[in-house]
Order: sequence, then C-alpha cells, then structure tokens
Amino acid sequence: MCGIVGYIGMRDSQDILLSGLKKLEYRGYDSAGVAVYTENGLEIRKAEGRLAVLESQLQQKPLTGSIGIGHTRWATHGKPSDSNSHPHTDQTMKFSVVHNGIIENYLELKEELMLKGHTFVSETDTEVISHLIAEEYQGDIVMAVQKAIKRMRGAYAIAVLTEHEPDKLVAVRLASPLIIGIGEGENFIGSDIPAILEYTRNVYILNDGEMAVLTKDRVELMTIEGNFIAREMFHVDWDWVTAEKGGYDHFMLKEIHEQPKAYLDTMGSRIATDDSKIILNEISMSEQEIRGIQRIHVVACGTAYHAGLVGKQVIESLVRIPVEAEVGSEYRYRSPIITKDTLVIAVSQSGETADTLAALREAKRLGARVVAITNVVGSSVAREADDVIVTWAGPEIAVASTKAYTTQLIAFYLLGLYMAQVRGTLEGAQIREIIAALRRLPEQAQRILEQQGEIKAYAELVAEHDNMFFIGRSLDYAVAQEGSLKLKEISYIHSEAYPAGELKHGTLALIEEGIPVIALATQPELFEKTVSNIKEVKARGAFVLGIANADDEELVKSVDRLLTIPKTLPILTPALSVIPLQLLAYYASLARGNDVDKPRNLAKSVTVE
Ligand code: M6R
Repeated sequence: MCGIVGYIGMRDSQDILLSGLKKLEYRGYDSAGVAVYTENGLEIRKAEGRLAVLESQLQQKPLTGSIGIGHTRWATHGKPSDSNSHPHTDQTMKFSVVHNGIIENYLELKEELMLKGHTFVSETDTEVISHLIAEEYQGDIVMAVQKAIKRMRGAYAIAVLTEHEPDKLVAVRLASPLIIGIGEGENFIGSDIPAILEYTRNVYILNDGEMAVLTKDRVELMTIEGNFIAREMFHVDWDWVTAEKGGYDHFMLKEIHEQPKAYLDTMGSRIATDDSKIILNEISMSEQEIRGIQRIHVVACGTAYHAGLVGKQVIESLVRIPVEAEVGSEYRYRSPIITKDTLVIAVSQSGETADTLAALREAKRLGARVVAITNVVGSSVAREADDVIVTWAGPEIAVASTKAYTTQLIAFYLLGLYMAQVRGTLEGAQIREIIAALRRLPEQAQRILEQQGEIKAYAELVAEHDNMFFIGRSLDYAVAQEGSLKLKEISYIHSEAYPAGELKHGTLALIEEGIPVIALATQPELFEKTVSNIKEVKARGAFVLGIANADDEELVKSVDRLLTIPKTLPILTPALSVIPLQLLAYYASLARGNDVDKPRNLAKSVTVE
C-alpha cells in the first residue's frame, strides 16, 4: 500500500525521505519517488520498481534541499510506471503532491481542468490534485489546498510542497492514515509511525477531515475548513528495533517464531492471577448489555476474516449466541440486518483496512455496538470502535499475516470466555479448564516450532507442484482456509481449502496421482469422518500430509506423512494447528525463490477499496 514521508528542517531532506520510505517498504509498493525544493526550484526523481532504483537515480543526480516529500506507490489508477509514480505536479511544475487513497471524481475534475488548458502526463487520480491546487492558488497554499479538497470526493492522505512557498508543507487526512512528527527545528509527515521513528517519537495523529501546516519550527493543526485545533502530542514508546529481523532470514519467519510470546502478551493481565476468570477491562459494555446481545457479526478481510471464522465457532460454542462472519467488502454493501441487540466485531491487524473500516462504519450507522480486535493502537478501526481488544503481537512486517492471526484467535478465546462468564453459559470449572489450557498454548506452540525441519522437507516437495488441497472439518476447515491463503499468497501455488466431507460433491474430480493434500484431523469428534475422507483422496493417488493430535498417531497408517501437534482442548487447536501451515507456506515460498516478505501484487495494509 502507498506510503508518504515529508520533511522540513535544516538537514538534507533526500536521505531522510529515502530512509522513511525504506521503513514503509513493508506496506508493499511498485514505484517510488521524491520531490525536493532545491536551488533550481522544485525537482523530482521517481522510478518504477524497488527503492533501490530510485536510490541509484539519486546517487547519480542528488537533490540538495532541506524540504521535501516522498512516496511509495501501490498501483490503483494506472499501471506501475515511472510516469504514474508520485510525486505528481501540475504543468508549471510548481506544485507537487504525494497521495494515498483514491479520488473518486478525478475523471470529472480532469475533464474540467483540461477544458481550462491543463495537460496531464499520467493515468493517475493524484495528478488531478496537483492541477486542482495550482488552479486554486492565489498566493496562499493553505487556502488553495482547502479549496481543492472541497472539490475532491474520496478517501485520501496527501502532502503538498509548492515552489511558491518553499518554507511550508501541507498535509491533509481524509480516511487514510497520516501523522505529523515533531522535532527540534524540523518536522515530519508520515503515513505510518515507522517512517519517522528514527528522527522523533513525538507525533500528532491527524483525524479525518484535518490538516496540518508545517514549517521547520512550527506545526499548526486545523480542520479542512480552517478552524485551528489544539491536540496533545502522542509519545511513541514503541521500539523500531523490535520490528527488525532479529537474526531471522525473513520477517515472516521471525514473526512465526514470535508467536509463543505474542500469545503470552495477548493473554497478559486479562486472565485473573488465580486462573479463575477473564478480566476484560477494555470492554465498557455493562453486564446487562452483554446479556442482551442476540446476535454477533464478525467483519474482517483476508487472514483476519479467517480468524473470524474460528471466532464464530468459538463464541457459538462457548456463549451460544448465533454468529455470522463475513468479509468486509461484502458486508458493507449488502444491507446487513442489525438490531440494537447486535454486536459487531471488527477484526484487523493494521486497523486501517478500508473494507473492514467501511463495514464497521456501516454497522455503527445502523446502530450496532462495535468491538474491535486490532494490533495497532490508535488505528482507525481502534478509534472508531466502541471498545478495543488489542492483540499484543507487536509490529507485523511481513505481508503474510501470522502472529496477528493467532493473537486474534487468542482475543476471540478471551472474549468468548468473558461473555460466557457474564451470561453464565459455562460453569466456573469449565472456565478454569479452558484457561489452564490457554496457559499451556505458548509452550505447546514452541514445541511445534521445533519441528520445522520436518515441515521444511514436506514444503520442498509441495514446492514442485502447482496445485494442492487443504481439507478438514469444522475448526479444521477454518484453519485449512487460512493455510491455503498463506500458501497461495507467498508461494504462488494454487490451492483450495475444502470441508473434507464436501470433496465428493465435485472437487474429488481434481484429485490425481501425486497431488499434495494436507489433511487436518485434530477434532476428536470428527476424527473418524476425516479419516474416511483421507482414504477417498488416497485411493485416487493423493500424497497426503496428515496433521493430528499427538495421541492420534495411528493416522500414520492412512497418510503418507504425519505431523503431530501437542494435545489441547479441541476448541483451542487452531492456535496450534495453523503453525505448521504457516511454516509450510514459508518454506515452499523459499524453495521457489520468491520474495517471502513482499509477495507480488500484494500490500501489507490495504487502505483502498
Ligand atoms: O490489516 P488487516 O488484518 O485488516 O488486513 C486484512 C488482510 O488484508 C490481511 O489479513 C491479508 O489477507 C494478509 N496478507 C494475509 O496474510
């Protein structure tokens, strides 16, 4: 997803912009660029491809100046190319703009501007912004930006630098994250905290409909209508070093290995010290309100949605409330049935996913109470929900989500148990039993990580195929869906997750000699049924890797390879059984020589629809 950096101060801006953009690489991008005010006026360098391409351009033709803006672009309007890369300018080359998000009415505006004589060089919506600002400029850049954004429809974060007022940067946020970093004699703009963390820990977080005017010594915050705002500075105590690879070859592998700690951190003080109950102080709903909940909708995208599929079964089983889980992009447009007794749970690692945010807003508009499960404090999802359960997974940098998923599961267990406590659907002894099992998960997860050699060997075999299947029943099917997504997104191997009992209704036709099938058989009540389904695929030539509990070793007779995971309560198994699937995807991607942390076509945080 696109990233924005801005700098104004006394230092050379080029290196600061580049270093900020590097910190945003994890968001995914396909081109990058910077605009710097130099002694020759506004100068721009931009290039399709990785930052290294831009960096080498800058080495050959450096830009010297202490005010600039930079951008990493993830293509939406127009293909990845040099001309579509940001910053964009107007035809006079006096106004430069970087932009995250989408301008919905850009074609309309473009036509209008072309009639006035403006000429365009890119296919982007962003270029229209710079022309619009130029058109509105009458000696005051802040007013010109305000007038321009009144004409724009959409969701965006923008940073503007004009040659006419080279002592100023203007930043605007409307439904796309933007922060302002405060330094001594220098100030910064970032679409994400890591972009500026090397230089300052003091930030202002802009809200929707707000803008900032930066000089090197001052930052003024105001609404887009021009009303000044007083805002407390936010001190970031989060350490960027924790987000570095820490000795692992890839962020993804590091993050997979961080899961035992992430489980512990997420449970943290939310379990009473005597293990008798769950304490969720962050839930402000009264006990009476919790008892009044009649239905729950879980909204999320991608991996977070898969966590929601597990969450659905967890809450239905512990609390006996009907739960629907739906992807945000569908939910937002299908006029969901929400009553005052509906609770909506929005799940998002980044807290900035546009479709999840829109689903959350639709739910709130219709009167639902919203609980967010997110990994990013202060994110849009966190700020707009009524209550927030933070997953303390720490920063997740790899595009493929791993520890965010498993900590989302932990959050669902905690929430489910808490609601069960309040509604009395579980006895005290049952709650204690589940809590005791939760406490064992970190150590059990650690034991699975120690089996990574076995998984690697199977992954290398899988890497030679172009198609494969994941099968399972009930919670195993939910985990199979996550395993399949993980494999697809980083190894580019096509795979399908199927409910094991559904294969015979069509998909069995695709099973042929040697095709890899991962069969999850961790749910004791369904074990025999799943074994029958394994036999169906084996009989047609599939090469099966079984994943089962440690005490189900007899499965070895029915599969080609068996991987056992430590035994826990069936409902908690997803927090363990997904780990081999994450490792499988990782090693298959590695074996195929892919860019594990930054898979093609994908972005870490999808802040456009
Ligand atoms: O930040 P979010 O949890 O809202 O992101 C949702 C999805 O875009 C994300 O989970 C995506 O599916 C991951 N790349 C999967 O690994």
